[in-house]
Amino acid sequence: MAKIDLKTLKIEAEKDIEKANNLNDLDTVFKKYLGKKGEITLILRSLKDLSEKERKKTGKQANELKKFLEEKIKQRKPGFVKFSTDKEFDVSVPVQKLKVGHLHPLTLVRREIEGIFEAMGFSVISGPEIENEWYNFDALNIPANHPARDIWDTFYLKNKLLLRTHTSPVQIRFMEKNNPPFRIVVPGRIFRHEATDASHEINFYQVEGLMVGKDISAANFKAIIQEFLSRFFNKKIKIRLRPSFFPFVEPGFEVDASCTVCQGKGCSVCSKTGWLELMGAGMVHPNVLKAGGINPNNWQGFAFGVGMDRLAMMKYKIDDIRLFYNGDLRFLNQF
Ligand code: DAH
Repeated sequence: MAKIDLKTLKIEAEKDIEKANNLNDLDTVFKKYLGKKGEITLILRSLKDLSEKERKKTGKQANELKKFLEEKIKQRKPGFVKFSTDKEFDVSVPVQKLKVGHLHPLTLVRREIEGIFEAMGFSVISGPEIENEWYNFDALNIPANHPARDIWDTFYLKNKLLLRTHTSPVQIRFMEKNNPPFRIVVPGRIFRHEATDASHEINFYQVEGLMVGKDISAANFKAIIQEFLSRFFNKKIKIRLRPSFFPFVEPGFEVDASCTVCQGKGCSVCSKTGWLELMGAGMVHPNVLKAGGINPNNWQGFAFGVGMDRLAMMKYKIDDIRLFYNGDLRFLNQF
């Protein structure tokens, strides 16, 4: 058997690796030396024909060379994957379709609500999520120490700032800068210091409404909300008003909608009453108009506040508000 010259083989192999221009070339080099019939493979296979001394020496060297070349080839590979001008990068192959995200159910619902109100002549307005006590409470006719502050407990920040507990403060902010008549809706995020469960979250979304003019009445409110709900739920919705108390309105009412599931006949969703509690509303309190710089002797109007999460839950039959916020794709991918 011819004397095995591993040194020359190493020099040759290194040159070959160096010369390779693409992954194909590298593959050929691999086969030439390390493939099934590669030169080094054959040497390793023929060791059994050598004397014991020779076998040990050559075996060790050949194995070292094998590892060395494998490593060299591996090192050259990454460069080709990106920059090869050869076949490996075929620009004509269709790319894998990129997965783009989609809108969150609350965003879908917000946009739909905005669209319906815009079609009825309302402007969409926004306000800050960080508020001060004046806008969140005092200006809304909830003075310090008034028990109503308990219902809207929140997270207090430094410098007497707080996270707003409702979108109502934007009523004041808007009135300060705009003269009546006007009609606005204010969708936005709000915060509550509350324990969470299927129907409570520490943050959720509301839509505030405010319409002020010379003779805007509760009848206007009823017509507009009935129209809004019928468009939103895509079916005729009836509403009823029940007297209720909110410091920022007088009179105040709670608005119930005919059950969207049973159409008012009575089912488990509406506890057999045929009605679902939906929102708070009322005629804007004179003190609130004053706080916004509007003379209550000349102007009047209605306001309402409705939970956007609640509307979304009713529309899509979702039974746990927390699903909106925990990022579970099994839920989100259904929209
Ligand atoms: N701000 C109230 C809340 O968060 C909801 C509300 C009730 C808003 C009556 C109004 C209203 O504008 O007139 O519970």
